[in-house]
Amino acid sequence: MRFTSCILLLGAALSQAVSAQTIESADFNATEALLEKGINITALPQLAALAERSSNAACSIACGSLRILYGSAVLTEGSTAYDSFTGGYWSVQQSSVDPYCIFKPASALDVSVSILIARLSQCPFAVKSGGHAAFAGASSIEGGITIALERIDDIVVSKDKKTVAIGPGNLWFDVYTTLQPTNLAVIGGRVSGIGVGGLTLGGGISFFSNIYGWACDNVASYEVVTASGVVLTASPSQNSDLFWALRGGGNNFGVVTKFNLNTIPLPGHLMWGGSRIHTRDQFPQVIDAFYNVGINSPKDPNAAQIMSFAYAQSVDLDLVSADLQYAKPIANASIFSQYFAIPPFIDNTKVRTLSDLTQQFNASNPNGLRETYWASTYKLTEDLVTEVGNIFYDELAAIKDAAGIVPAATLQVISKGMLDNMKKNGGNPLGLIEDAAQGPFLLVNLNMQWTNIADDARIMQANANIIRRADAYAKQNGLYNDYIYMNYASQYQAVVPSYGKQNQAKLKTIAAKYDPTGVYQRLQPGYFKLDGSPATGL
Ligand SMILES: Cc1cc2nc3c(=O)[nH]c(=O)nc-3n(C[C@H](O)[C@H](O)[C@H](O)COP(=O)(O)OP(=O)(O)OC[C@H]3O[C@@H](n4cnc5c(N)ncnc54)[C@H](O)[C@@H]3O)c2cc1C
Ligand SMILES: *[C@@H]1O[C@H](CO)[C@@H](O)[C@H](O)[C@H]1NC(C)=O
Ligand SMILES: *[C@@H]1O[C@H](CO)[C@@H](O)[C@H](O)[C@H]1NC(C)=O
Ligand SMILES: *[C@@H]1O[C@H](CO)[C@@H](O)[C@H](O)[C@H]1NC(C)=O
Ligand SMILES: *[C@@H]1O[C@H](CO)[C@@H](O)[C@H](O)[C@H]1NC(C)=O
Repeated sequence: MRFTSCILLLGAALSQAVSAQTIESADFNATEALLEKGINITALPQLAALAERSSNAACSIACGSLRILYGSAVLTEGSTAYDSFTGGYWSVQQSSVDPYCIFKPASALDVSVSILIARLSQCPFAVKSGGHAAFAGASSIEGGITIALERIDDIVVSKDKKTVAIGPGNLWFDVYTTLQPTNLAVIGGRVSGIGVGGLTLGGGISFFSNIYGWACDNVASYEVVTASGVVLTASPSQNSDLFWALRGGGNNFGVVTKFNLNTIPLPGHLMWGGSRIHTRDQFPQVIDAFYNVGINSPKDPNAAQIMSFAYAQSVDLDLVSADLQYAKPIANASIFSQYFAIPPFIDNTKVRTLSDLTQQFNASNPNGLRETYWASTYKLTEDLVTEVGNIFYDELAAIKDAAGIVPAATLQVISKGMLDNMKKNGGNPLGLIEDAAQGPFLLVNLNMQWTNIADDARIMQANANIIRRADAYAKQNGLYNDYIYMNYASQYQAVVPSYGKQNQAKLKTIAAKYDPTGVYQRLQPGYFKLDGSPATGL
């Protein structure tokens, strides 16, 4: 950090508020934008030279410049810190990506500087929060800069206790354990190791979503670094178009450096929940219970459920798990009575804290394996739930011998309560508000983990087959909905186009306003862009 003081001309300009009209002018000059932030690129010799001629050493120069400015906050290949960082992703596919460097900004200003340097050098970048997106390049970038948000990790409850300002460097575990003594919670992830950033920007289903809606529908405001390095607030009253876009639009509009989330009361953080595991012969009863709790959700929205068709390779058994939760410390809510009538062979439900419940789920989702996630949406009918199970087990036959395979078709209901909450504060771009009258919906998350790279092709093919066949069945029966949930989608799925033509067009207009040269589209190529799918070929 010893070079920093001669470069940073600290001044009022650093935190200067910028109005929407100056987001990015046609003659935007990144060299001058850096100067406004106190950085004279003359002190970054290679970057200064680059501004005058083109170079193919873009990332060497960008990372070298960040190193001069930020010292040990920049990790490069060959160091143990670098290896431990890349090893920290959830999936092996993401861990296998080697960026030119990793930058760990400590503030929104640092994020702006890194975006401007990436822009000036034309070095591609990726942004990482909790690193739980499954496929390679989602929050990592081969040969580019991975901007890791882990140091932007404030958690501050507002004076009026209505919101909490949360940095995207936090995992939900940090958020819940910090909030527990306040008796307040937020709408966030159900597995402790998930990041605040990705989950909230893609939607975000929580234990409390039948009451309050998805995470993206419970954001009071976002602090965003735009492509021109400006730090903006997006809320229902400021930059409201950007606020709408961020409620499910993913990484396409800027880097979010702060989420102000609405709080909910949760006395003692106590609730009830756990998993109940059932055998093949009980599937019809469990499916019936799942369907009825989904349909009856408005009668008691404290109840939440996740049902998974699964396979235990070690004992060669088909199983179904019913993960049940209740938003109060009540063990016998009558809405679950149909489930309670089916004797489980494993049951670990109990009254426990929110963070404890997320730790239980984390334990069954370990790091360090090959992973794939897929998504689809249908109108909820009991017959379709059964059919998804049939198709899943049918296709599983071809891959159930793969080393270490843990496959599941995980089903949830996009309930009436969730759909109603999407309409709050100007709505969101997901395209479900428009279809709400056809709800509630069945959200399918196909997920598999395995260990051997040699099994990749057949496992990916089986996943594609399951989704294709379930979609075809739903279409034949008039039950198909084109929504693809970003947080569960595979790289072969076109998420943003699934939001509907009108919403996609509106998102593109908003992206063009806040990022006229498409920095977050082209220079940050990973994850779900505004057009198409990240990968093709399956
Ligand atoms: C075990 C497990 C459990 C899950 N449980 C749930 C659940 O309960 N509910 C649910 O809805 N989903 C759940 N998911 C899905 C989860 O929401 C997605 O995987 C999500 O992308 C993870 O967020 P992350 O920050 O950890 O991921 P990352 O891989 O860090 O980020 C995902 C994407 O978001 C972008 N991004 C992240 N932060 C920012 C930011 N601040 N600004 C701009 N872009 C950003 C990244 O660039 C990347 O493209 C789960 C996933 C797993 C693997
Ligand atoms: C950007 O500004 C710098 C400093 O004022 C100037 O030297 C450079 O020519 C400008 N670049 C462009 C492309 O206009
Ligand atoms: C940038 O630094 C160079 C070299 O120290 C100096 O000549 C130049 O005046 C500086 N530019 C500005 C705008 O401060
Ligand atoms: C749940 O259990 C409590 C305590 O045993 C009891 O008072 C209550 O009536 C039960 N509620 C239902 C819905 O069964
Ligand atoms: C979640 O599980 C992984 C192990 O796979 C572990 O490394 C991580 O620390 C856990 N996260 C939390 C928040 O406990």
